Amino acid sequence: MARFTVAVASAAVAFALWATASPASAPAPAPAPASKQLKCDTASFAAVLPAGATLEKVASVPEGGSFGEGAADIPYPVNPTGLPELCAVTVRVASSASSSYRFGLFLPTAWQGKFLAVGNGGFAGGINWLDMAPGPHYGMAAVSTDLGHNSSVIDLTWALNQPEKRTDFGWRALHGTVVLGKTLTQAYYGSNRKIAYSYYNGCSTGGRQGLREIQEFPDSFDGALIGAPAWWTSHLNNYVTKLGIYNLPVSDPKHIPTALFSVIGDEVVRQCDSADGVKDGIVTSPELCAFDYSKLLCRGGGNSSTCLTSAQIETAKKVYSDAYSSVDGSFVYTGLTLSSEDQWYILLGGTEPSPFGVGYQRDFLLDDATWDWRNYNDSLVKLAERTDPGGAQAVKFDTSAFKRRGGKMLLYHGVADGLVPTKGSEHYYNKTVEAFGGDVGAVTDFLRFFLIPGMQHCWSTPVGAPYNIAGAFQPGAMGSGQWSVPGFKDKDHDAMLALVDWVEHGRAVDSIIATTWNSPLDPSSGLLAQRPLCPWPQKAVYDKTGDVAAASSWSCPPLTVKGRNPWWWWWRRWW
Ligand SMILES: *[C@@H]1O[C@H](CO)[C@@H](O)[C@H](O)[C@H]1NC(C)=O
Ligand SMILES: *[C@@H]1O[C@H](CO)[C@@H](O)[C@H](O)[C@H]1NC(C)=O
Ligand SMILES: *[C@@H]1O[C@H](CO)[C@@H](O)[C@H](O)[C@H]1NC(C)=O
Ligand SMILES: *[C@@H]1O[C@H](CO)[C@@H](O)[C@H](O)[C@H]1NC(C)=O
Repeated sequence: MARFTVAVASAAVAFALWATASPASAPAPAPAPASKQLKCDTASFAAVLPAGATLEKVASVPEGGSFGEGAADIPYPVNPTGLPELCAVTVRVASSASSSYRFGLFLPTAWQGKFLAVGNGGFAGGINWLDMAPGPHYGMAAVSTDLGHNSSVIDLTWALNQPEKRTDFGWRALHGTVVLGKTLTQAYYGSNRKIAYSYYNGCSTGGRQGLREIQEFPDSFDGALIGAPAWWTSHLNNYVTKLGIYNLPVSDPKHIPTALFSVIGDEVVRQCDSADGVKDGIVTSPELCAFDYSKLLCRGGGNSSTCLTSAQIETAKKVYSDAYSSVDGSFVYTGLTLSSEDQWYILLGGTEPSPFGVGYQRDFLLDDATWDWRNYNDSLVKLAERTDPGGAQAVKFDTSAFKRRGGKMLLYHGVADGLVPTKGSEHYYNKTVEAFGGDVGAVTDFLRFFLIPGMQHCWSTPVGAPYNIAGAFQPGAMGSGQWSVPGFKDKDHDAMLALVDWVEHGRAVDSIIATTWNSPLDPSSGLLAQRPLCPWPQKAVYDKTGDVAAASSWSCPPLTVKGRNPWWWWWRRWW
């Protein structure tokens, strides 16, 4: 029976391929003439730079070489290694009388006519050389900007009373980098070798940057891979302070000490792991788990390191709940998800709320370095919406101009994310559907959203969950010489290659196989598990007999618009 249903399914696939295939007679692209190509030297690039831009460095990197700025690049001090042969260029661009940004550009010798821009993280000010590195391996020229400042991920003090620098952070540095980066790429390879396709890859702030660029400049990219986007800056960065205050001050009986986060996390796994029908230590369907908080309660009302008081339980409930404004009742942000506890230390573990929140209020919103977080109130959400410091928020949900030109987007988010709430991406997806008049099919034609159970913020997993899809930061987190998914550098496992296949060959992404290793950031520790991710709201379904750790034991229900599956899906399930 299995044999038969596979044949039916592949007939359907074959038909789909046939229907979208280009004519077999299409000529292969002409080989590139070398005559118009710029040399990889300062004089050549200086001659093509526009006014306002200055060259910092031009360097030839040999096959297997390394490039970056080391410790001078505060947030990205690790230089990528094992690069393909390329030309590395660093440029500074004046963006106003009081601001400028820098960007780096990799121009691989083995260029395949493609351009890639990568994003940053948090409030980092530095060129993300490590995330650029996969570009040349894919045959793509790659750019990254420092966003116009030099700082760590959690340092926002550069923004105080600096509206122009905030604008560079919000959108101007990335947009200018994409425009000038394309110009230099085109100049380098010569006019007979056009940039055929442009891509974007970013997570967290990087996700926000990509969405913002697509919303305002739909021609910038043909495809975008967007992870855990911090898209709703005005709300999210106020929510971060509000969330921190739930657990403050530390002297209050309601305070949950950091040591108890894992007590909550363990109870979540105990109660919620099986909600999806498979007991594997991975909370796949937190929304199906009716969590019983009373199981956490200290008997006799005591205070111990293995249970919570009722006041602490009330705090935990608030952390998981969607937040509404105490000023006007309006929606502020989605709460953290059950299974995010391992990362609670980031926003809930301090003696004051996180710099991602308080820094935003001080240095972006109020321009008041002495502002005290104890003065927080929800009226700041509306103030931030109204003033939108830096023009950073990505809230123009109608991306039909991007879709019309053939743009495709893959959005993903870790279910165990304890920094940028997972459900916020679901909210973004829902708002997009709303902007397309409720037409889900019109959205799935160009945008697909994948939840990654057990994955934390952008990368890694504390529960052995398959998480790696070559998203932003993922190769770099595994080592300076990594790119794609080690051992599985193909479109079934690497989300960027899946996106490329969708953009260039019209094959929509119906699943991505996520991978993890015995030590999640060390592929040399040996393969631990693989599992397909399915476009939301679908989830991978276990075949009930195969090895849970093998991707082949799972399948994605077909993405259906009206909630009805084709007959052959039910056939496969029931026979
Ligand atoms: C950033 O600032 C630090 C000092 O805080 C300096 O050492 C470093 O060179 C600067 N980096 C760049 C790229 O300008
Ligand atoms: C619980 O007891 C510990 C000492 O055992 C103490 O340090 C802590 O403040 C107490 N916490 C609460 C919430 O009473
Ligand atoms: C809310 O906070 C802002 C900034 O601290 C302050 O100016 C405002 O007066 C506060 N509003 C209320 C109602 O407390
Ligand atoms: C998104 O929409 C779905 C379907 O209408 C709904 O069930 C879900 O609660 C929404 N999620 C969010 C975060 O708004």
